[in-house]
Amino acid sequence: MKKRIFGNWKMNGSLAANAALLDLLKQGLGHADCEIAVCAPAPYLVQLQSLLSGRAIAIGAQDVSAQASGAFTGEVSGAMLREFGVRYVLVGHSERRQYHAESDELVARKAQAALASGITPVVCVGETLAQREAGETEAVVRRQLSAVVQRNGHCLSEIVLAYEPVWAIGTGLTATPAQAQAVHAVLRAQLLAATTAAARIPILYGGSMNAANAAELLAQADIDGGLVGGASLKAADFLAIVACAG
Ligand code: PGA
Repeated sequence: MKKRIFGNWKMNGSLAANAALLDLLKQGLGHADCEIAVCAPAPYLVQLQSLLSGRAIAIGAQDVSAQASGAFTGEVSGAMLREFGVRYVLVGHSERRQYHAESDELVARKAQAALASGITPVVCVGETLAQREAGETEAVVRRQLSAVVQRNGHCLSEIVLAYEPVWAIGTGLTATPAQAQAVHAVLRAQLLAATTAAARIPILYGGSMNAANAAELLAQADIDGGLVGGASLKAADFLAIVACAG
């Protein structure tokens, strides 16, 4: 399948910085043979909609409410995101699980809300360092994915999955290609048990992916792309990763 390289800007950017970054990306992209998206903070989605219209860069959001509408102060619904051309939304990023106490069940409901709005949820799973050291990696990612499968089994083929070991996010410590592939294979097997479409569900790797390590990670059998944080804020770095994918 076509590789996917998705940038996660996290809580970074400004109108001016975003415009400059997107300009460089548009100039540098050429005919990349992979699917590209940038996941921006919600207030900038309107800017992305205007700057990326007709471009080969899809718009992503970083979170979505599990609710459709109503008295949920501060929340943003899938339908609202949809109005700004959003194609993808991250759900269950480890920073939201950690700092906002998002449970597996809430993440599954957010994925469901995205799907109901015609937005592809990018479901993030991953273990902490303590969990890896305790030999719990497989159990943790299987539990996290299982909640999403149980609630969204009927449209599971519409999701994107991202394996992001928490200890590798923003730390400069990347999982080795073999470590990442081993977990991706576990996730693929779990998807295979749940849907005949498992081979078509992209599983991205995230966690300190950069221009130097991307090619080897992306060459693994079950690694279908990358979810890139820090390196997505610098056009040259992001483009170099895209070049490894296309
Ligand atoms: P990082 O972040 O590339 O900066 O490690 C990845 C992510 O959190 O999605």
